[in-house]
Amino acid sequence: MRLAVLASGTGSILGAIVDAGLEVALVLVDRPCRAIELAEVHGIDSVVVERSGYGASFDRTEYSSAVAAALVDRSIDVVAMAGFGTVLEQPFFERFGGRTLNTHPALLPAFPGWHAVADALAYGVKVTGCTVHVATLDVDAGPILAQAAVEILPDDDEASLHERIKAVERTLYPATIRRFVNELEHCP
Ligand code: GRF
Repeated sequence: MRLAVLASGTGSILGAIVDAGLEVALVLVDRPCRAIELAEVHGIDSVVVERSGYGASFDRTEYSSAVAAALVDRSIDVVAMAGFGTVLEQPFFERFGGRTLNTHPALLPAFPGWHAVADALAYGVKVTGCTVHVATLDVDAGPILAQAAVEILPDDDEASLHERIKAVERTLYPATIRRFVNELEHCP
């Protein structure tokens, strides 16, 4: 199974996936970011599919086709989104539906979306966490594979809370990817 990781940010979750011993065949990013540098450090093939190249109004459908094509070109079987900052549409899911995982920094279905950590803080919940789920066309709504809780401390800000959540994601996500890939290998 050839695994691709899709990222846009610091790549710390990508680093955890690599450190856990999972073989990453490709890192795909949608913008220049540290994740691509990390791929280079680890000698992993990488590709930038720049979202800025898809027009002022951003043609999401075309962009999703380009991402799928880049993955198909490199014979990717399974995709792990790790802080990927672009919502993908049908052309991507036509090819990789049921084979794409995502990690989200909240206990879904609570606090979907890009500002999950800030939203949990603003709401005043005392416990949040992270969710690993199968990515679907509906954002942050696919079948849940694993969750872990993280307590919110009285003096938390978005950065401190997100870092504690990521510390949990760095263990939970690689373990869940490994299980998912094993299951796919045994009943493709
Ligand atoms: C993670 O918290 C992930 O759940 C969210 O983006 C973050 C990625 O972190 N979608 P990093 O850029 O890998 O450090």
